[in-house]
Amino acid sequence: MSVAIVYHSETGNTEGVAKRIASATGGELIPVKDCTGYNKITMYLLGSARARRRELARIEPAAIDVSRHTLIVVGSPVWAWSPTPAANAAIAALRGCEGKKGIVLATCGGKPGETLAMMKEALLARGVDVVGTFAFAPRDLTDEQKMAELVSAVKQSAGQG
Ligand SMILES: Cc1cc2nc3c(=O)[nH]c(=O)nc-3n(C[C@H](O)[C@H](O)[C@H](O)COP(=O)(O)O)c2cc1C
Repeated sequence: MSVAIVYHSETGNTEGVAKRIASATGGELIPVKDCTGYNKITMYLLGSARARRRELARIEPAAIDVSRHTLIVVGSPVWAWSPTPAANAAIAALRGCEGKKGIVLATCGGKPGETLAMMKEALLARGVDVVGTFAFAPRDLTDEQKMAELVSAVKQSAGQG
């Protein structure tokens, strides 16, 4: 039973967790690129404001077909206590997601704010049944127990457990 791992990552933290899920489950990694082309300064100045306004970025790929998968994991960095505009756009870009199970993942500096609830709400609006939400603060990125909990939830929800 296969897993799609759709994620946005600018500095590698979300990507690192996404790759751990993929190697444990044989899931398909689907990285989403924000076409804005931020640098470190504009990411904070423009990116945070756009995230706060719940904007959708222009992304590559523009459409994400998950119809052959059983479970969809969506991962986002936290920007201004919110999912990133690229993650918002990724959820909108899902094709064939209706009626599937979903797990939300966010990585953050320790203050996720409303990110998990916002991503869950957006996925529910796309017809995805969200069965778990996980936030990873910096210390969690090297916490094998936390990683094992996430992997176990993904495997169980995908019917691999
Ligand atoms: C523009 C910007 C805004 C951020 N806002 C928050 C925030 O509100 N709360 C928080 O805990 N971390 C915040 N962070 C830290 C990131 O969420 C954290 O470093 C995350 O793991 C980055 O993921 P990535 O490496 O996959 O891009 C922010 C980082 C950036 C670049």
